[in-house]
Amino acid sequence: MKTIELRVIVNGQAKQWTIAPGAILLDVLRGEGYYGVKRGCETGECGACSILLDGKPVNSCLMFAAQAEGREILTVEGLAHGGRLDLIQEAFLDHAAVQCGFCTGGMILGAKALLDRTPDPSDAEVREALAGHYCRCRGYRKPVEAVLGAARRRRVAP
Ligand code: FES
Ligand code: FES
Repeated sequence: MKTIELRVIVNGQAKQWTIAPGAILLDVLRGEGYYGVKRGCETGECGACSILLDGKPVNSCLMFAAQAEGREILTVEGLAHGGRLDLIQEAFLDHAAVQCGFCTGGMILGAKALLDRTPDPSDAEVREALAGHYCRCRGYRKPVEAVLGAARRRRVAP
């Protein structure tokens, strides 16, 4: 089978993987152990497979892995540092915005992308950022409150 080499930065670490030319990024990341990238609809609807690619949210189920060549990927595993959760992760816990957690990694990455570019978002901007993330059990009010709470915390202690 024909293969290609994929070089990417994942969560700050340089990686080189041998992949099939048509491999989907979601499959490659999960195959490499990034299980925070969830397999949901696989059609770009649910947001469970979200990652940040060069800081922007993308659905990894809709991308060929080869399209990520040379780029920076952030998965939810890359948020905590030194055993400390990111402020957005803490806010999701403190606001009880997590139930089963299947959608949560994608939501948190969507929130990070929003807060990195808009530190003081409106309620509507948070809802827009979370719009592509389906939650089947927790709902949306708590995650919106969590993102607004995280924004306040980041403005005090970025
Ligand atoms: S699995 Fe990618 S958007 Fe649902
Ligand atoms: S917390 Fe279960 S799908 Fe959102």
